[in-house]
Amino acid sequence: MRKPLIAGNWKMYKVPSEAELFAKELKNMPAYGDRDIVVCVPFPAISGVRRILAETGIFVGAQNVYPAKEGAYTGEVSPLMLKDAGVLFVICGHSERRQIFNETDDFIAEKVKAVIDYEMTPVLCIGETLKQNEAGETFTVIEKQLKTGLRHISGDAIRKIIIAYEPVWAIGTGKNATPQQAQTVHRFIRKFIEQNYGQVARDVRILYGGSVKPENIDDLMCEEDIDGALVGGASLRFESFSRIVGFQKK
Ligand code: 13P
Repeated sequence: MRKPLIAGNWKMYKVPSEAELFAKELKNMPAYGDRDIVVCVPFPAISGVRRILAETGIFVGAQNVYPAKEGAYTGEVSPLMLKDAGVLFVICGHSERRQIFNETDDFIAEKVKAVIDYEMTPVLCIGETLKQNEAGETFTVIEKQLKTGLRHISGDAIRKIIIAYEPVWAIGTGKNATPQQAQTVHRFIRKFIEQNYGQVARDVRILYGGSVKPENIDDLMCEEDIDGALVGGASLRFESFSRIVGFQKK
């Protein structure tokens, strides 16, 4: 059984004092035993938010990592630092990092490995652009991103990974993939994992991201291979995030 997971990606929003106020608000959410909740917050807010959420069962995640333990990498943050700060989940290869910071599949693969090596959970983001979608390249793109992104992950380690399918055309646009569109790609992703790693594919959580909101979460979660959501804009406000976290399968 795959436990549903709702993760908020705050991106580059909320200064630490705002983040802490918001974390205090999040403590008012009902406790759910049947789903996991994560907030991926900006680096400077990690310690404060983690302290506030310590006893709540809401996990703290990071949005990026540099794949080395330590060293002369001015401005970067290592997996060891994240681990020590109490981070459990790390987003790797978000499309904004691919597009704005030119991150390659090879580099992302190193991040995924580094996160696993430090016993945290990577959330590997994949997804096609509008142009690729319109050119009918969705599955080719997804397959390449998976193949390279997971290249250092062998055997059972795949269990520790979360995949997030985030079609770039759905991010921040208000236009989500329909549940059926997302399900088709999620099924393809699970098949890929099954072909490469075997039956363990059944245990790997695959999240959908891209304009997830209170109005569409219930329908998305009804799909067989959609195990949760990675939420951007709607994770920044209590009403919308708590409603998404409280999704009900129809
Ligand atoms: P939005 O929910 O704002 O579309 O962002 C999705 C996303 O990029 C989450 O990582």
